[in-house]
Amino acid sequence: MKVLIVGSGGREHAIAWKISKSSKVDKIYCAPGNAGIEEVAECVPIGAMEFERLADFAQENKIDLTVIGMDDPLVGGIVDIFEARGLRVFGPRKNAAVIEGSKAFSKDLMKKYNIPTAAYETFDNAEEAVHYLETASYPIVLKADGLALGKGVLICNSFEEAKEGVRTLMLDKQFGSAGDQIVIEEFLIGREVSVLCFCDGKTIQTMTSAQDHKRAKDGDQGLNTGGMGTFSPSPFYTDEIDAFCKKYIYQSTIDAMRQEGRDFVGVLFVGLILTKDGPKVLEYNARFGDPETQVVLTRMKNDIVDVFEACVDGTLDAVDLQFEDNAAVCVVLASGGYPEKYEKGFEIDGLESFKDKQNYFVFHAGTAKKDKKFVTNGGRVLGVTALGKDLKEARAEAYRATEWISFENKYMRHDIGKAIDEAGSDL
Ligand code: AMP
Ligand code: GLY
Repeated sequence: MKVLIVGSGGREHAIAWKISKSSKVDKIYCAPGNAGIEEVAECVPIGAMEFERLADFAQENKIDLTVIGMDDPLVGGIVDIFEARGLRVFGPRKNAAVIEGSKAFSKDLMKKYNIPTAAYETFDNAEEAVHYLETASYPIVLKADGLALGKGVLICNSFEEAKEGVRTLMLDKQFGSAGDQIVIEEFLIGREVSVLCFCDGKTIQTMTSAQDHKRAKDGDQGLNTGGMGTFSPSPFYTDEIDAFCKKYIYQSTIDAMRQEGRDFVGVLFVGLILTKDGPKVLEYNARFGDPETQVVLTRMKNDIVDVFEACVDGTLDAVDLQFEDNAAVCVVLASGGYPEKYEKGFEIDGLESFKDKQNYFVFHAGTAKKDKKFVTNGGRVLGVTALGKDLKEARAEAYRATEWISFENKYMRHDIGKAIDEAGSDL
């Protein structure tokens, strides 16, 4: 089989690596890919938003399956274009990817189908939003309706901050048209967990849980980023919580989408918060998470191509999805300054240390090749992932492996998985 992956981050590198383990696949392409992905796939210089050119490439090269990694092409309707040409593609159509593309849509869906989430109001007029905020209780959360690289969420502690937030999102349009509409919602307290679900439109199969660390600095300080590190499984996501979520959240969501004529095929990423009143949905994404994928796929036992095909064919109920009884931790190595200004082009040393090591992985996010050497080429540069028999071991090994890599201005958080310590003796 020939497979094409669309995307260029650490997530796509992890997906490409996992596909390379499939016995069914003899050729992998990735568009546009990155310097690290080149080790397992042939990178094709076509942008992820160039749908027609990508579909031409898939047709000309007789690609058997295309896997879409990123949110923008999904929300933009790449799957519809591929399907119209009779190409097999893994990912939700435009009318289902809207579950990530519009927070107002996803909140209304949850309300209509009684899926637990924070109370909210939607506004497309700044004056009305400010009027509502005058009598609201604080803290409160403001969210741009559309895609904003995970940065369109503002947690406001006072009316003044919230008023300023409305200005930033709706009037100054910091995130462009994503802020034409905003959702204002209740502030919830609890631990966050990411659960990725394979979906074939009617059946769901949940992958193992993971936890992200979104803030740039230790102790969850600093600005929001794409994600600075993850661990899997989450010790806080118990079997009891899993059973509740399967029934009242994941299956309900897929059923609701089906009811609305928006059958969801692909990966549904459910961002949960475990509150004292039970689990609630913070957000949905219509794709694998980054860097959740790095800690989830390295623990997955199945041939992933079988699972992708079952989703596309509507036969997911026949799949026995299995994960190793171990743990994984991923620490992101970033360029100093990220998510604000940073320099790139620094030579990266030590990547060869990961070669031929079974339990250690280095997935590339922002790297390039210059004179045959790897150099930094983005904010998030690499994700160092290690497996261990339990979370403590995986964490110690991941941090040990971060020392093998060096580049100028290398920056990482030192407390990825620190929450594990609070889970106590259950581990
Ligand atoms: P989202 O993109 O909607 O997941 O929001 C990004 C981050 O903002 C989440 O991972 C949470 O840390 C935080 N957040 C979002 N919504 C809420 C909420 N209702 N209460 C508390 N924190 C929130
Ligand atoms: N790690 C969060 C995301 O992929 O959106």
